[in-house]
Amino acid sequence: MAAMHASSRIPTSAQTGIHEHLATLLERHRAAPFRKPYADYNRAAFAASCEHRQRTAPEAPLILDSCCGVGASSIALALANPGHYVIGVDQSAARLSRNITGKAGLPPNLDLVRADLVDFWRLMLAANIRPARHYLLYPNPWPKIGHLSRRWHGHPVFPAMLELGGMFECRSNWRIYIEELCFAIERLTRRPAVCQPYAPDAALTPFERKYLNSGHALYRTRVLL
Ligand SMILES: C[S@@+](CC[C@H](N)C(=O)[O-])C[C@H]1O[C@@H](n2cnc3c(N)ncnc32)[C@H](O)[C@@H]1O
Repeated sequence: MAAMHASSRIPTSAQTGIHEHLATLLERHRAAPFRKPYADYNRAAFAASCEHRQRTAPEAPLILDSCCGVGASSIALALANPGHYVIGVDQSAARLSRNITGKAGLPPNLDLVRADLVDFWRLMLAANIRPARHYLLYPNPWPKIGHLSRRWHGHPVFPAMLELGGMFECRSNWRIYIEELCFAIERLTRRPAVCQPYAPDAALTPFERKYLNSGHALYRTRVLL
């Protein structure tokens, strides 16, 4: 994993707690299924990822690493879980194309996919492809009050993401992000979700490393959906 400077800032926001419009937004998204048409490049990426899995490990339980960035966590998860098949998804071709394994190459039980998760999650759901475990590590926090709908729990795709199921884990250095996410999970699934302080011994992702090196407190939630 590349070395990073310890100069990261904790998200600052005028928000001091859960956004006052989150409950209304969740009810709106629950009531009206999200029907945005799929982009062709996401369909193609999804089809290619299905073919890859079919060729490689069709029976292996699936770990989904959403917003995987350069794929460091996806690689670590694939190496630590050789009996699982790991799909890391990110929309940034630049991040995904960074060669972080050198000559070692990617583990055989891993596929890194460039796609927009707004489509990829719904394509998985439509094909009934369910992750056993689902990681969402350090999503962009969008801390401005007016950016609620850019946070994953404020986005209309969120109910579909929850429907994918599995053991879901999200981490952030912005406590309010995880608190809102827990609120949203409880509201839509009736499952208890708790925002916990998180202090790992070793970083699983570059952003986690950057935040730990900067002395930030970290938060996470884990819920069986
Ligand atoms: C803050 S970075 C975290 C990356 C990595 N998980 C880590 O912890 O180092 C957030 C990532 O989410 C990705 N992302 C944001 N919106 C996305 C979307 N709609 N579909 C796929 N990836 C997305 C970005 O490209 C970026 O790589």
